[in-house]
Amino acid sequence: MVSPGSSVTDRVRALVAAHRGDRGALLPILHRIQAEFGYVDSDVVPVLAAELNISRADVHGVITFYTDFRSEPAGRTVLKLCRAEACQSVGAEQLVAHAEQVLGIKCGQTTPDGSVTLEQVFCLGNCALGPAGQVNDRVRGRLSPARLDALLTETVNR
Ligand code: FES
Repeated sequence: MVSPGSSVTDRVRALVAAHRGDRGALLPILHRIQAEFGYVDSDVVPVLAAELNISRADVHGVITFYTDFRSEPAGRTVLKLCRAEACQSVGAEQLVAHAEQVLGIKCGQTTPDGSVTLEQVFCLGNCALGPAGQVNDRVRGRLSPARLDALLTETVNR
């Protein structure tokens, strides 16, 4: 929760000041906010709107348009599964269904214990090795349900 005068508000204002005068400043500012706080809290929307002299709807629209921006903190492990065409043709949908079933969540959600966030992506640049996924910062290829289970066990129980 960001309240007026909070350190988060001050930090957001400082980020805006660093980009003052830049064209298209909103996107880099949002990336910096997410990098620093792990997500873009909805409470920063009015701060950004006021500081950048744009509407709250414009800020909200950008945040929701780009799937990279999170509105809540991510789990300790972030699992991204590719659902683009090349990966779909080699079983991505079955892999997503398996992940949702074993984790008990849908894409875009985090397990109640905060251990895993499951996200869908549309191409990780690893099309020749589909189905592709990413566990935290590491891209993985030729994922099968069994391989995914092993990766999750190894990563989550670390
Ligand atoms: S289509 Fe899945 S990595 Fe490119």
